[in-house]
Amino acid sequence: MADLKDKVILVTGGTSGIGLACAQLFARSGAKVVAMSIQPDEGKALAEQMTAEGHQCLFHPGDVGCEEDVKAAVRLAVDRFGRLDVAHANAGVLKNQKITDLALEDFHLLINVNLLGAVLVAKHAIPVMRRQGKGVICFTTSVAAEIGFPEHAVYCASKAAVVALMRSLTTDHTPEGIRFVAVSPGTIDTPMLAASCEGWDKPKEELYAAVAQKIPVRRMGQPIDVARAVAFLVSDEADFISGSVVHLEGGTLALPPW
Ligand SMILES: NC(=O)c1ccc[n+]([C@@H]2O[C@H](COP(=O)([O-])OP(=O)(O)OC[C@H]3O[C@@H](n4cnc5c(N)ncnc54)[C@H](O)[C@@H]3O)[C@@H](O)[C@H]2O)c1
Repeated sequence: MADLKDKVILVTGGTSGIGLACAQLFARSGAKVVAMSIQPDEGKALAEQMTAEGHQCLFHPGDVGCEEDVKAAVRLAVDRFGRLDVAHANAGVLKNQKITDLALEDFHLLINVNLLGAVLVAKHAIPVMRRQGKGVICFTTSVAAEIGFPEHAVYCASKAAVVALMRSLTTDHTPEGIRFVAVSPGTIDTPMLAASCEGWDKPKEELYAAVAQKIPVRRMGQPIDVARAVAFLVSDEADFISGSVVHLEGGTLALPPW
């Protein structure tokens, strides 16, 4: 387990799927966690569960596309725990469409959550980390940044933009002591993935089994697979890693194109 003892960590989208696994693993590894999302019931349950286990975790309800909400989440971490060591910009939404049918409200939702949410986390976390002379910002991108998923053009574009954002921030702020990393999951068993199977002509279990057979490791990813990698990347043991994208996709990207 990575050593995150006493690290103060903000996780957006920290109440479901990948973000939930990250928030739980961070708290169980000794970190002081602030989870932010638009799911107040799940947030309350997470904070209660972690507290009952003897760990430290607060929930902050808020929309990552709203600057005041992100600012308030960063402020909560600093006010309650005295600093902000790690910000994990993980909140995301997935919507598919043919570009010719694109509703502009879907475009704005994807960009507001997936890209603006990441931008706002960086905007408000960096000044705190700069004052500390140290910090790590991790972004959750996707293999969709590199693979042309059919009928997901705007989602793919939003995730590729996050990688570009992460690299540019590295050149600006890593000399100030702030590291930037991105995790790029493949197919991970989360509520987002389950929702994307709705409307298919096969049951979810059948679809998942077929997908697993195409992945070189022959299984789908679990949220904890991503959480373990993030825990390492944001720990001091990963001190030389900045500007990197770590793929967590069971070998999918290594497959030949036939
Ligand atoms: N599941 C996968 O296969 C997969 C693959 C690649 C990348 N990802 C990315 O991983 C991240 C997490 O996805 P997941 O699969 O765990 O999804 P999920 O739907 O289980 O969780 C998404 C989280 O984001 C939060 N969220 C959504 N809109 C928000 C908003 N406006 N403000 C604050 N929080 C908001 C939700 O409340 C939830 O906590 C996303 O960025 C997603 O794009 C997922």
